[in-house]
Amino acid sequence: MRKAPRLIEQALARAGLEGVRRVATGVDVIGGIAIVRLPGVPLRSKRAFAAAMMEETPNLTGVFEQAGGVEGEFRLRELRHLAGRKETLTTHKENGCVFKVDVARCYFSPRLATERLRVASEVRRGEKVANMFAGVGPFTVEIAKTSGAEVMSCELNAYACDLHVQNDRLNKVDDRVEVVNGDASELPGSGRGRFDRVLMPHPSAADEFLDAALGLVKKGGVIHYYRHLLARDEEEGAAAAREELRGRLPRGARTKVRKVRDVGPRWLEMTAEVRLPR
Ligand SMILES: C[S@@+](CC[C@H](N)C(=O)[O-])C[C@H]1O[C@@H](n2cnc3c(N)ncnc32)[C@H](O)[C@@H]1O
Repeated sequence: MRKAPRLIEQALARAGLEGVRRVATGVDVIGGIAIVRLPGVPLRSKRAFAAAMMEETPNLTGVFEQAGGVEGEFRLRELRHLAGRKETLTTHKENGCVFKVDVARCYFSPRLATERLRVASEVRRGEKVANMFAGVGPFTVEIAKTSGAEVMSCELNAYACDLHVQNDRLNKVDDRVEVVNGDASELPGSGRGRFDRVLMPHPSAADEFLDAALGLVKKGGVIHYYRHLLARDEEEGAAAAREELRGRLPRGARTKVRKVRDVGPRWLEMTAEVRLPR
């Protein structure tokens, strides 16, 4: 969930920061924790804004600043505590599911809620799905809950896997979800067979794992490929995604490309839905 702009405006006003408009689009609320981005703002003002947010929103437990980008193999945010409790473990609700998330030790973005709902609505009961980059399990749990499909989830970060297993139980999908703590590139040939649908929600590096995804998907199956690409608009992003995939897919594969969201100035998250030939 993103913070309601009106509350952010009020908190900005209380902190004397009315001029810092970009904050209004830069706040993520994950469970009881707000994560703000305030580049160039003095620390005193950041703390005043965070304190004002706590007062405006009684169910917030803490406010953190995201000090840099999302970094490293585990895609973690560097966080600085600004107000409230320092606890980074929280419980987040999304699309009728509930997730334990540690915002400092695992990747989670509430900005993907619509994409998760969209993918979950495409999956049919009886499908066998693989999620190569599962995090704490939001795509997996929402797919298993919505469709009743069986999902195999892979994730390198052991702590994210622990939370994923807890989230499977919380959402009563543990009977149809398998969580594998490991490297997704080692999944083909691991004896798990082939899948009707393979998800690659790792947009900073999915290109490096495309061959592994092709080794996991059945004939006639679908790969959901995600990438962060430098592009001014959806058309340019689609061209960049097609160019990246050119020559890497089996003959007869059909590709539908669209924008998921803006991720930075001239950076878009794009997705390519690749259907393999029978
Ligand atoms: C952008 S996050 C997406 C997480 C999740 N799908 C979500 O939407 O919240 C990418 C995830 O891939 C994991 N990861 C990175 N390299 C991996 C690998 N080689 N094998 C499996 N998981 C990996 C990271 O730890 C991170 O949790």
